[in-house]
Formats: sequence, C-alpha cells, structure tokens
Amino acid sequence: MSQTSEFHIRHASSADDDAQFIVAAFDSTLPYLGSIGAGEMWGETPFSEKDGFEQETIESVQKSEHQDDCLKIFIAEVEGPVTTAASVYAGRNERRTRVGLAMIRENSLPTYIAEREEMKPEVDGAKRFIFLEVMISDYRTWPLHKGAGAALIEAIKRYGRENEKDTLYVDCWAGNDAKLNRSGFSTNRVPGPESRVLDPGPER
Ligand SMILES: CC(C)(COP(=O)(O)OP(=O)(O)OC[C@H]1O[C@@H](n2cnc3c(N)ncnc32)[C@H](O)[C@@H]1OP(=O)(O)O)[C@@H](O)C(=O)NCCC(=O)NCCS
Repeated sequence: MSQTSEFHIRHASSADDDAQFIVAAFDSTLPYLGSIGAGEMWGETPFSEKDGFEQETIESVQKSEHQDDCLKIFIAEVEGPVTTAASVYAGRNERRTRVGLAMIRENSLPTYIAEREEMKPEVDGAKRFIFLEVMISDYRTWPLHKGAGAALIEAIKRYGRENEKDTLYVDCWAGNDAKLNRSGFSTNRVPGPESRVLDPGPER
C-alpha cells in the first residue's frame, strides 16, 4: 500500500487567495491528464489563459463563503513546508501546503445534467444530495497530493451526513474508456451517504 499524507480539509476562503491556487491547480492537471490518455477531458489550453476563468473562480470562492449558497469549495492541505513550485500560492497558513480541492453543489444539479432526458428519473427523484462537480490535485506538489481525492471525498461525505444528505452524486467524464469511473480514489472507500456516478457522456 502506498504511503499518503495526512490531510486537513477546510472551506475555501477569499482571504487565503484560494482562487489563485485553484486556477494554478487546474493548470497543473493538464500534463498529467495528457499522460494518462485523458487529455481531451479539459483540452490543452491552460485554465489560467481561458477568458473569464480566473474571475469566475474568484466569484465561486466568494459564493462558497456564503452559507446559503449551494456551491461549496473544499481545500485539502498537508502539514509541512511549502514546496518550491507551490510557494507562490502558500496562502495565509505558511505551515501548510495546499494540495487539492473539490467543488460541490448542495441539492442542485448543473444544467448539463438536469436537461438530459435519460437523467430525468434520477433528477426528479433527487432531493437531499451533494453533487461532486470537480475534484483535483495540485500536481506541482507531488508526492504530497497523493491520496487527496479520497480525503476530500471523506470530508464531503462527513459534510453530507452533518447536513442530512442521503446521496452523493459524482460527475465522471466517460471518455478515455470511462477509466475515471473505475479509478482508485473510489467513493466506496469511505462510509457516508450513498454514492452514485452520474455520467453525462463523453462530449462534456
Ligand atoms: C482525482 C484526483 C484528485 C484523485 O487524487 P488521489 O486521491 O490522490 O488519487 P490518484 O491521483 O492516486 O488517482 C487514483 C487513480 O485514479 C486515476 N485517475 C485520476 N484522474 C483520472 C482521470 N481523469 N481519468 C482516469 N483516471 C484517473 C489515477 O491515474 C490513479 O490510477 P492508478 O491507481 O491506476 O494509478 C487526482 O487524480 C486528479 O487531480 N486527477 C486529475 C483531475 C481529474 O481527473 N479529476 C476528476 C474529475 S473532476
């Protein structure tokens, strides 16, 4: 069994420059995705170069700070010195390194899911749930990020239990032979609300 770090999970915060970290973490995934044959998932253009992405991320972090908003962003950190590449994004807590993040929605599904006819039975039945929209590691922090996905899912399930959710939906890109659906950070590792994969198809 491989050694993984101990993770601290917290909510994203504007005061910690988390938006800048999130954009850089998104960028860091692209070479990795290309290396495992999943380059088509997000393409080759760095997120930091996409029009409006940084501003949208800043706004997402602000929304996440409001208790009433359905969007929540979780940040995974590890104890210890900040690695060179990530030091620019060290944030306020200099004793920890940010290694990953997850974005969820509470009781709300994005339009690209809700509008699909084949999803209708699931969408109509969904009441108290969490939708895991995005989860990524910051690949600049290798090997500290290893295991961040499972730790984030565990924290999200705990959050779901605390907020009386009964289902955790996981958005999975079905391209690359649906490898993501079968990957090792499976939600089945941790107890909590029932986990279901929503697969909106490869064209997303
Ligand atoms: C998802 C993620 C946060 C999980 O981090 P983790 O808990 O540390 O787990 P790992 O990175 O070790 O990944 C576990 C397995 O999933 C695989 N995997 C990760 N992302 C994958 C993807 N997009 N497609 C297919 N397989 C993927 C890894 O190759 C690994 O496989 P292995 O065990 O055969 O080596 C991280 O792998 C990541 O950032 N992936 C790229 C972004 C992504 O695809 N996010 C999910 C969709 S939003």
